[in-house]
Amino acid sequence: MPFDVDKARADFPILSRIINNKPLIYLDSGASAQKPTAVIDAMGHAMRHSYANVHRGLHRLANETTDAYEAGRETVARFINADVNEIIFTKSATEAVNLVAFSYGQRLKAGDVVLTTEMEHHANIVPWYMLAERSGVILKYVPIRDDGSLDMDAFESMLTPEVKVVAVTHMSNVLGTINDIPAIAAKVHAIGAKLMVDGCQGVVHMPVDVKALGADFYAFSAHKLYGPTGLGVLYARAELLEAMPPYQGGGEMIAHVTKDKITWNEPPHRFEAGTPAILEVIGLKAAIDWLSQFDRSEIMAHEHALYKRAHDALTQINSLRVHGEAEGKGSILTFSLGSAHAHDVAQILDRYNVAVRAGTHCAEPLMTRLGVTSTVRASIALYNTEQEIDVLAEAVAKAQSFFA
Ligand SMILES: Cc1ncc(COP(=O)(O)O)c(C=O)c1O
Repeated sequence: MPFDVDKARADFPILSRIINNKPLIYLDSGASAQKPTAVIDAMGHAMRHSYANVHRGLHRLANETTDAYEAGRETVARFINADVNEIIFTKSATEAVNLVAFSYGQRLKAGDVVLTTEMEHHANIVPWYMLAERSGVILKYVPIRDDGSLDMDAFESMLTPEVKVVAVTHMSNVLGTINDIPAIAAKVHAIGAKLMVDGCQGVVHMPVDVKALGADFYAFSAHKLYGPTGLGVLYARAELLEAMPPYQGGGEMIAHVTKDKITWNEPPHRFEAGTPAILEVIGLKAAIDWLSQFDRSEIMAHEHALYKRAHDALTQINSLRVHGEAEGKGSILTFSLGSAHAHDVAQILDRYNVAVRAGTHCAEPLMTRLGVTSTVRASIALYNTEQEIDVLAEAVAKAQSFFA
């Protein structure tokens, strides 16, 4: 059965917004997705009816809120096929990668190598760069091919015994490339290294099974998955977490504190210092429950058809260059329009209420590789429609005539 986009759209109040007598066309979900009523209501309900701090109270509201928070952890675990104690809540995907680079990174020594790739978001580069600065670890970048796919031959040749961590995105936020994580994992594990997967875009557009993927670490943000801001998820294999030191100190992450000696709590609590993002976890649970009513493969087919429609229409424009044509890529369409600055293009599209992203997309090494300073990105989500794609195409054609 085809995905019922109208039914899904009806759950997003913001999508009925009219600006200057025209509907809003939101094609910036790769940056942050809009929120369904289920999420808005779940968070509001908690604040109205049952809210307190978690894990530390003996009263009814504290127990109810703790149950709701831990139910969120169970839902996330089930959603990506992890065990419940392998799910750590952070403030963002960015913080999740920082946690791994800081905590697991303590096992690495000068001369060890971390491999990242040319297509990474800064979130999966900078924490490793900081580790390299701190400890003499060497950071190397696996190149991409001209079509935007990862150069797997180069990758294999870079897998020397010094490599201890490989940090790679599941799906590029610029190119839309979907990396073959199971194949990468097999090669990484063959040399005894660990695999950190940035799942920020991947988890939104594909069903994720961390065990089948072979990821040692998998990070994503709630706000791109139709959930609230201020919340990230780190999956890490239990045996790795057991041996990892804490990332931050404070309440909740300790077992016992005396003036002279402190012992750590068990994972996942060891990695959740202080009051966590309680309401946001409740919101993420609602987002996942809401998403789970749909068949993910139907959503993928819907998004892919919209991507193809956009690609077919936009590539009619002579001066338009698409960045990222890898086979099997996801529904992110990034382009340059002649020599026009991406910001100018985005501002023209905004006159048609078409919201896109323009800039470096937090991927400056990739911009350098592509030979551009900035690009325009239309990122397609489950609530987008054919009509919206047609307006995008019309607006880009208008922008093109403006710059011709
Ligand atoms: C691929 C990818 N990784 C990491 C991030 C960082 O996510 P956050 O800012 O929510 O931590 C993003 C956000 O755009 C992303 O697209």
